Amino acid sequence: MHVRFIACLISFVGSVIADNFQEPLRSPSTSLSKPHRIAVVGAGPGGSATSYYLDKFARSLSLHRPLEITVFDTNTYIGGRTTTVNALEDPRYPTELGASIFVEINHILYNATRDFGLIPSAKIYQAAPDSKYELGIWDGLSFVFTSATEDDTSSWSGWWDIAKLLWKYGLSPIRTQRATRKAVGSFLEFYNEPVFPFPSIQEAVLSTGLVAYTSVTGKDVLNAAGVGDLFSREIIQASTRVNYASNLGGIHGLETLVCMAIEGAMAVEGGNWQIFEEMVTSSATRLLLNTTVTDVIKDTKHGTFTLRTTNPDVNEFLGTEDEAAFDTVVLAAPYQFANISFAPELANPPAKIPYVSLHVTLFTSPHRLSPSFFGLDTQADVPSSILTTLHEGLDEDLSSRRGVDAVGPAGFWSISTLRVLHPDTDGTFFGPTSNHSTKDSQPQYLYKIFSPAPLTGTFLSDLLDFPHSAGEKDDPLSALSKKDVTWLHEKLWHSYPYELPRSTFENFTLLTSSGDDQDQKEGLFYLSGMESFISTMETSALAGMNVARLIVDQLHSQS
Ligand SMILES: Cc1cc2nc3c(=O)[nH]c(=O)nc-3n(C[C@H](O)[C@H](O)[C@H](O)COP(=O)(O)OP(=O)(O)OC[C@H]3O[C@@H](n4cnc5c(N)ncnc54)[C@H](O)[C@@H]3O)c2cc1C
Ligand SMILES: *[C@@H]1O[C@H](CO)[C@@H](O)[C@H](O)[C@H]1NC(C)=O
Ligand SMILES: *[C@@H]1O[C@H](CO)[C@@H](O)[C@H](O)[C@H]1NC(C)=O
Ligand SMILES: *[C@@H]1O[C@H](CO)[C@@H](O)[C@H](O)[C@H]1NC(C)=O
Ligand SMILES: *[C@@H]1O[C@H](CO)[C@@H](O)[C@H](O)[C@H]1NC(C)=O
Ligand SMILES: *[C@@H]1O[C@H](CO)[C@@H](O)[C@H](O)[C@H]1NC(C)=O
Repeated sequence: MHVRFIACLISFVGSVIADNFQEPLRSPSTSLSKPHRIAVVGAGPGGSATSYYLDKFARSLSLHRPLEITVFDTNTYIGGRTTTVNALEDPRYPTELGASIFVEINHILYNATRDFGLIPSAKIYQAAPDSKYELGIWDGLSFVFTSATEDDTSSWSGWWDIAKLLWKYGLSPIRTQRATRKAVGSFLEFYNEPVFPFPSIQEAVLSTGLVAYTSVTGKDVLNAAGVGDLFSREIIQASTRVNYASNLGGIHGLETLVCMAIEGAMAVEGGNWQIFEEMVTSSATRLLLNTTVTDVIKDTKHGTFTLRTTNPDVNEFLGTEDEAAFDTVVLAAPYQFANISFAPELANPPAKIPYVSLHVTLFTSPHRLSPSFFGLDTQADVPSSILTTLHEGLDEDLSSRRGVDAVGPAGFWSISTLRVLHPDTDGTFFGPTSNHSTKDSQPQYLYKIFSPAPLTGTFLSDLLDFPHSAGEKDDPLSALSKKDVTWLHEKLWHSYPYELPRSTFENFTLLTSSGDDQDQKEGLFYLSGMESFISTMETSALAGMNVARLIVDQLHSQS
């Protein structure tokens, strides 16, 4: 984690231990009217944007009751699935462990990056030196596509320019781009009147016509747009696999086109989580990290909610404060993982949906990707980053399957060379490798691999071509020599849903069995239905901005 952030965290934990909740993030309003108290459960992109826009909208409408926003998160950090770890434990090398990329048309993230003075970086990958290719697509047998290394372009921004020119695919790249632009155009209507704010995802999806894309598979949408099978399988499927761990038969048409809307790809230098940390700290009255909300109890007489958490200090605080009840609760995390019980219980709890189990392996090594692993002749021929797809013979059979059954002979979704770390120019490395690295001053390559199962020592020794004999039965990476894998961080995420075709979406409002028909008035909101539509940092933030608007508009109309 970022040093400044660790400092924040320590001071926060200190304040919890000192039971000093009275120290708010923002000075309490001097207004005499009773504040409207809002609990935001989850400080990922969705919850952070909820807090940020609640404050923004409340100010712009000059609500006569001030808002008091309390943000809760299980984690000890802000950002949810957007977080960094330091390669080699060195704070100079923060590395995205979860969400890493957004694009210029992502208005919320783009604006926030600008408004908070964060530094956007377009250079997301760094090609290994003397590598001819920065990106390759491998079908488990051979490379079906490679793009040459160019100076100062990331593999993503260069993608279209190269793809467009390829005679191999005829008009398919242009047709894909046209279909993508059209879908993106409809999606952008979500930000403005008359679509915004939308009472439900359902209504917005219907009124913009995007239901035509969400209700069919990627394969179907591409067929209908006249995109050829070869381009779909070799290029677009490589993108749906790296972005959503899915083949074209297992992902809906809109999410497929989202994977191709990559113009202006960027990331925040030092970590995208900084956007969300700024959003929360600039807007919330109170931030309660390391605090899992376990119960939401409705006082049916007053229509308010009491929260219980796993954190005894927080419970004591919530229980003793004069007016501890919340007027509004926003659940900004997938219901099925939040493990919250509602009393009275929910009349229509969000349905459980399958999520992808994604294994992310970050590591550093002095070794380069092995040409022989990929059946190539020289080191220079191995692309720095490798996406994967299925070869023609398997595509039909595996296209709609999941996880290890869908990945095919490549065995992984993607490998990226993120950075080349030079001890000579950067000084010594921190952490356990310092002695080894400085001694022979070898560069360290920082890799990220996405796979549907944990990687084994045998896989990695083949990939990087170093000697290895599997000792332990399950052959874990952690048993490899520090000489070959100088730093390792493995993480299993419920990364995003399997984006199956669908035409109905969860509502933004939750209703307890005691609730009436005027569900918005009940004061329970839910963001994560948005993930079945599109799962990105931006769309979760958009759900948060939308719910913030619904809440503020309702308060405004009451006053
Ligand atoms: C490896 C990986 C790569 C990705 N790549 C990209 C990408 O390149 N670009 C992109 O835009 N998106 C990407 N995503 C998807 C993106 O991370 C998610 O869409 C986004 O984080 C969803 O935001 P959210 O706020 O809805 O949920 P989350 O980020 O999951 O936040 C929910 C928060 O709620 C907290 N919480 C849950 N239950 C409770 C409880 N009971 N009490 C208190 N707190 C609770 C959780 O701890 C969590 O912090 C990626 C995801 C992964 C895992
Ligand atoms: C982003 O900023 C632009 C220009 O300042 C503004 O017009 C637009 O409304 C902003 N959008 C969002 C979602 O904040
Ligand atoms: C989180 O809270 C628990 C108590 O609920 C405490 O034991 C633990 O040390 C805390 N962790 C951090 C990192 O603050
Ligand atoms: C869910 O919550 C219940 C009750 O609070 C608890 O006993 C259980 O361990 C939790 N399950 C998970 C997976 O966190
Ligand atoms: C590095 O070497 C020094 C002296 O040889 C030793 O004291 C130290 O423990 C080593 N550090 C690590 C992290 O191995
Ligand atoms: C969403 O709310 C509307 C109106 O209350 C209701 O008719 C519909 O069934 C709800 N949808 C879901 C998926 O719960």
